[in-house]
Amino acid sequence: MQVSEFIKNLKPYVPGRSIEEVQRQYGLKEIIKLASNENALGPSSKVVEAVQLAARDVHLYPDASYYECKKALSEKYNVPADMISLGNGSNESIDSLIRIFCEPNKDRVLISQASFVAYKVCAHVNRIYVDEIPLRENFEVDTQKMSLSFKQHRIIFIPNPNNPTGRYLSHKNLEPLLKVAENNPNALLVLDEAYCEFVRAQDYPDSIALLKKHKNIVLLRTAAKVFGMAGLRVGYMFAHPEIIQLVEKARLPFNVSVPAVAGLKAALQDDEYIRNSQKMVWEGLDYFYSELKKMKLPYLESQGNFIFFDLKKDAGIVFEDLLRKGVILRPVKNYGFETHMRMTVGTRRENEIAIQSLKEVL
Ligand SMILES: Cc1ncc(COP(=O)(O)O)c(C=O)c1O
Repeated sequence: MQVSEFIKNLKPYVPGRSIEEVQRQYGLKEIIKLASNENALGPSSKVVEAVQLAARDVHLYPDASYYECKKALSEKYNVPADMISLGNGSNESIDSLIRIFCEPNKDRVLISQASFVAYKVCAHVNRIYVDEIPLRENFEVDTQKMSLSFKQHRIIFIPNPNNPTGRYLSHKNLEPLLKVAENNPNALLVLDEAYCEFVRAQDYPDSIALLKKHKNIVLLRTAAKVFGMAGLRVGYMFAHPEIIQLVEKARLPFNVSVPAVAGLKAALQDDEYIRNSQKMVWEGLDYFYSELKKMKLPYLESQGNFIFFDLKKDAGIVFEDLLRKGVILRPVKNYGFETHMRMTVGTRRENEIAIQSLKEVL
């Protein structure tokens, strides 16, 4: 079958191993999955209630304009409704931006090495070239080098904080790319803030203020992390009205389902659940820091809901050994790290079991 070289050479997104699969393979009852940066709290009861109520309406299409949901987002984040678009997870928004703003077989996007894999996959699916800039030695995105490498790229994708490293960019470190955005009104600077609610760093950029200053900055947020709604598939984009109009025109109709919209509206009001998610993640990270320190395994301080650490041996072997114990973590060889592992923060019990299992297999 004749097909584009981009598609032939595609390295698809490989999701983490599922609980059912590992249960079957090793005949285990309990599985601890800390592999996909999901929210270990389980869903908010308010979201469950809203989804159950919305189930009565699933014979109907959703409101095509998502008016109520955008209004709720607008009120919560103080962003005008005409600067908001919903996506079927931020993954869809990443794909939409590439489809809309890049010309196949011609345009290029600029990313950092070891940034969230969807940028590259979506670009290649859409026959767009990708230039990837190496990380700094301290695993930080090298915004200086990225700005110097900018050559009329149509989109720069910056995950902040980054997955899988958990590193973040301060306002100061973002500045070289803000300059690029300022000097190149035809390029988009996309700040993917999937984990922003977990950031504890004081100098994390105020991206909503940046959005109001720069017409070509796009923010991506998701309900999959702090709101605990990964399975419902909904994310939202904040951008200048001109960009939003194009995205709205080109998106699939009814791209976000009735239960997902209802769930998001409920989640936006559930401050207690958000606080509990943050508390769980921050306590879990602090626990991981102290345990990994005792185990003498180097790690990066994380601003996400996961930790990136060095096993100092082949991560594939450790991954398999942990699977036999019913613990699923995420090796990151696909990002070029042979001995590193990414571990999502779970509940206290899950974290303790994961650390105990790591001690046993190492
Ligand atoms: C940096 C980053 N952006 C976006 C996403 C995807 O979010 P969604 O589930 O909304 O598609 C993830 C998911 O892990 C992520 O790590």
